[in-house]
Amino acid sequence: MRSFIAKNVQQLRPSGIRRYFDIAATMEDVITLGIGEPSFATPDHIIQAGIDSLQRGMTGYTANSGLPELRAAVAGYIGRLYGVNYDPAEEILITVGVSEALWLAMKAILDPGDEVIVVQPCFVANTAAVEMAGGVPVTVDAHADTDFQITGAQIEAAVTGRTKAILISYPNNPTGAVLSREYMLQVADVAERHDLLVISDEIYERLVYGVEHICFAALPNMRERTILLSGMSKSFAMTGWRIGYATAPAAIMDAMRKLHQYLIMSAPTVGQVAAVQALLHGDEDVLAMRAAYDRRRRLIVDGFNSLGLTCFEPRGAFYAFPSIASTGMTDEDFCERLLLEERVAVVPGSAFGASGAGFIRASYTNSEDNIAKALERLARFMARHGFVTSSDAAPALLLA
Ligand SMILES: Cc1ncc(COP(=O)(O)O)c(C=O)c1O
Repeated sequence: MRSFIAKNVQQLRPSGIRRYFDIAATMEDVITLGIGEPSFATPDHIIQAGIDSLQRGMTGYTANSGLPELRAAVAGYIGRLYGVNYDPAEEILITVGVSEALWLAMKAILDPGDEVIVVQPCFVANTAAVEMAGGVPVTVDAHADTDFQITGAQIEAAVTGRTKAILISYPNNPTGAVLSREYMLQVADVAERHDLLVISDEIYERLVYGVEHICFAALPNMRERTILLSGMSKSFAMTGWRIGYATAPAAIMDAMRKLHQYLIMSAPTVGQVAAVQALLHGDEDVLAMRAAYDRRRRLIVDGFNSLGLTCFEPRGAFYAFPSIASTGMTDEDFCERLLLEERVAVVPGSAFGASGAGFIRASYTNSEDNIAKALERLARFMARHGFVTSSDAAPALLLA
């Protein structure tokens, strides 16, 4: 029989992070620093709001754009945090996570062959979203020497006559980098001079440590050329509720809404009600979870550095991105051997783009106890292979 699979789907590369989860799933007693989701359950009052809505009989569709109360809550939230105002009726769409919003944004703006500059290392879906929409991802690599921040000059060098948009995501998955205001202004300047859109995925916006999150749409003149994506998954520990949102000027939002209407109809109703509760009353929960991540962040970054795995200080999200150059191994070999020998799951940096090669991504969403145990196992691994001496490994061995 012939292959029925469309060529452009055949050409999509499978996500490079799945393989390690598949191996880990066959093993016992694995400590996972692999997955990018909160270890916390959704706060109780948010869960309760969802349950109440079901018991009140809210089991049908909502308006295509999302519950009016939720769109109003999103507008209020963005206005309160960043001073940027969006019209809930015309400029806000509730989506099935940022995942859907990202796809809609690409599909709404790209004609075949249009280029999108994608800053890497980045979330594994980013280049795929451009390709699925018929566009061409042009990747630009952020590097360790700028703590994985991108400069305007790097982006500008990739602009061609076909460039339509720049896709950035800070705080960043997988590096934990936050883009400084100076670099953000450089990106804005390139967008303005070349008349480009900026798609800014700010899903980790609330998870910053000792720095302020800058919303791209809040930069001078950027509101009109930004599609802002964010959602409930990371800040409110609500990955499974599947609620995200997009904000954009009305003409772009009209196009995204049209696609959303045919593709999804409306985002999950129970999740939307819970999201209203989270946005209006969830601030203390966010701060408590952020404080816990911050403690874990310090533990893991210090642990990596003490084992010779140089790790810049991640200022956002919940990932550390240490270099494994000192081991001489490839990031893929390192991850596979660490998993098989010591039952610690981390993800190779190269899964997130070429400039991630030689690094590993470790999520610090796991408990402090488990992070300490993982560091102990890592220390054993490093000593066994002669990457560090036993005395260098000793502090980490004492942690657990
Ligand atoms: C940068 C980034 N954007 C989007 C997503 C997907 O988020 P959602 O759960 O809202 O679809 C993730 C999930 O890991 C992510 O890291």
